[in-house]
Amino acid sequence: MASSTSKPRLENKVAIVTGGSQGIGECIVRSFVKHGAKVVILDTKDDLGELICQDVGAELVSFVHCDVSLESDVENAINTTIVRHGQLDIMVNNAGIGDEPKLSILDNDTAAFKRVISVNLIGVFLGTKHAARVMIPKCRGSIITTASVCSITGGVASHAYTSSKHGVVGLAKNVAAELGKYQIRVNCISPYVIPTPLAMKFFNMDENSSVYSNLNGKTLGPQDIANAALFLASDESEYMSGHNLVIDGGFSVLNPAFGLFSLDKIES
Ligand SMILES: NC(=O)c1ccc[n+]([C@@H]2O[C@H](COP(=O)([O-])OP(=O)(O)OC[C@H]3O[C@@H](n4cnc5c(N)ncnc54)[C@H](O)[C@@H]3O)[C@@H](O)[C@H]2O)c1
Repeated sequence: MASSTSKPRLENKVAIVTGGSQGIGECIVRSFVKHGAKVVILDTKDDLGELICQDVGAELVSFVHCDVSLESDVENAINTTIVRHGQLDIMVNNAGIGDEPKLSILDNDTAAFKRVISVNLIGVFLGTKHAARVMIPKCRGSIITTASVCSITGGVASHAYTSSKHGVVGLAKNVAAELGKYQIRVNCISPYVIPTPLAMKFFNMDENSSVYSNLNGKTLGPQDIANAALFLASDESEYMSGHNLVIDGGFSVLNPAFGLFSLDKIES
């Protein structure tokens, strides 16, 4: 691990954040800039993305319209980043969508399943591929994908969403195996529930809805994910690759309905 100094953690680095116009992605963008990076937002929500650029400063954050499920868009966005900044050090594949919650697989249709896979899995494949294209010649880079607790556990979200998130972790492990020889690191971050527009729509909740937390009194927020992204993007994690950093307060390693430490809940 690099020793901690007072210099900005992402000094002289250029990052792309897909899905950076709102939610978790916006928080990652703002945190990266705060720590010295120049950031390019790739998103389909142009207005929201441009607002962040105006707010933070066009010299620090810029926007490229990009639908991550389209290879021509992703290729163009990576090329534009290189023209603008001459380098790409950090790729955050964060754009994602949910689908309509349906309680029976019999009601799931193929078109909706494919739509989720095309953004959440193929979009990550395309972002990873075209980031690797410009990182390989430089022999450096950190590729980070926002997965989910749904990448390691079932029953939380839809079949399509859960499949897509398991898929991106497999992809990250495979690409980490390939790109280690170029000193390019590939990792995932897996958040628990955060009331962003995506989660509020899927779980029919609002900002004030309470969600079960194993960490009593604590609530997960976008900054917790941005802090993890910052760590994986910086040289502090220089020996970490192929990892899925789960940020869920312990949710996925326990069954709150049964076990020794659930006894007090049962007795009371
Ligand atoms: N919020 C949660 O509880 C939660 C939990 C685990 C994982 N995640 C993951 O975190 C990531 C960010 O989600 P969020 O909660 O901030 O959602 P959000 O809906 O607030 O933001 C998602 C962003 O992705 C963009 N986007 C969607 N489709 C796109 C496409 N085809 N091309 C480019 N941009 C596109 C949207 O315009 C939006 O700006 C997603 O990958 C999501 O699956 C979220």
